Amino acid sequence: MPREEDWDEDDIDSLLRAEKKHEWISDPRFKRMFTDIEDALQGVMGKGKYEWVDRRVFDQVFDRSTLLALHKLMEQGNIETIDYPIARGKEAHVFRATSKQGPLAVKIFHTTNAVFKGLAKYIDGDPRFSGLSRRHRELVNIWVRKESRNLKRMRKHGLRVPEPKSSLKNILVMEFIGTEEAASPRLKDIKLEDPMGVFEDLLEIAAIIWQTCDLVHADFSEYNVLWHDGQPWVIDVGQSVTTRHPSAKEFLVRDVTRLTEWIGRQGHEISVAESLVRVLDDPVTKLDPLPSGD
Ligand SMILES: Nc1ncnc2c1ncn2[C@@H]1O[C@H](COP(=O)(O)OP(=O)(O)OP(=O)(O)O)[C@@H](O)[C@H]1O
Ligand SMILES: [Mg+2]
Repeated sequence: MPREEDWDEDDIDSLLRAEKKHEWISDPRFKRMFTDIEDALQGVMGKGKYEWVDRRVFDQVFDRSTLLALHKLMEQGNIETIDYPIARGKEAHVFRATSKQGPLAVKIFHTTNAVFKGLAKYIDGDPRFSGLSRRHRELVNIWVRKESRNLKRMRKHGLRVPEPKSSLKNILVMEFIGTEEAASPRLKDIKLEDPMGVFEDLLEIAAIIWQTCDLVHADFSEYNVLWHDGQPWVIDVGQSVTTRHPSAKEFLVRDVTRLTEWIGRQGHEISVAESLVRVLDDPVTKLDPLPSGD
């Protein structure tokens, strides 16, 4: 920013805009909400030991609409406190949270993304684009509902996936997979005693998802499987689609390829084609449903 006396119209304009971005915070209507949830958000304000949750991250994740949704979930008793961040991704942050019933995982999807932010300066103030941000937000909300539905469907067929507890707007509240100390590790982060046995389990899971749930995970890999209590737990199913989706088979091939690449790195050469045939055709065990509220 140049010295004040050298400011041109654009500088002043962008300053006004930046101020405006946070103006709502001092609006009396939101004062009460802030007072209500400030204490419950200690874990994400960068005051605790998790320093990466600085002001920038706070801005990125907790915009006005997200805070309002969070406030509502807290009022309804679905969440009591947000405790600490577990993971940050391009599309979402995941936090450990607590309710009266115990620990929770809260996945908060970003309502803006980097690309969108870059574009915003070309779009802001152009009446032709005034609906875009709202549409983007609505897409994210649909995504959350879809992840919740997919989790339910998988649990109905006995698969170990987190139980969805509630959702609102861009926030998904689900069962926390982990211990008192931390979230369970991803397959990617650990060395297994019997990787081949786990690979067999993962193929069986892929087969149940395909044959029984009529879905394909579409991002199945060592990144989206948590190792918990000696068992694989599948997560991150927002992108999962039904087997009727025109690209379903393509997604399945990609999933199976990723799994065989993973087991390849554990020292076992397994054929993609054979694994694929097993997922498509091997008879699967019928499992008892896992409870699934919302
Ligand atoms: N229910 C849960 N319990 C414990 N940890 C979880 C849970 N859900 C997610 N996590 C942690 O958060 C990380 C990110 O979650 P997830 O994979 O769902 O989001 P993501 O990869 O950011 O998703 P996307 O790419 O769709 O934005 C996981 O790798 C895992 O470490
Ligand atoms: Mg993931």
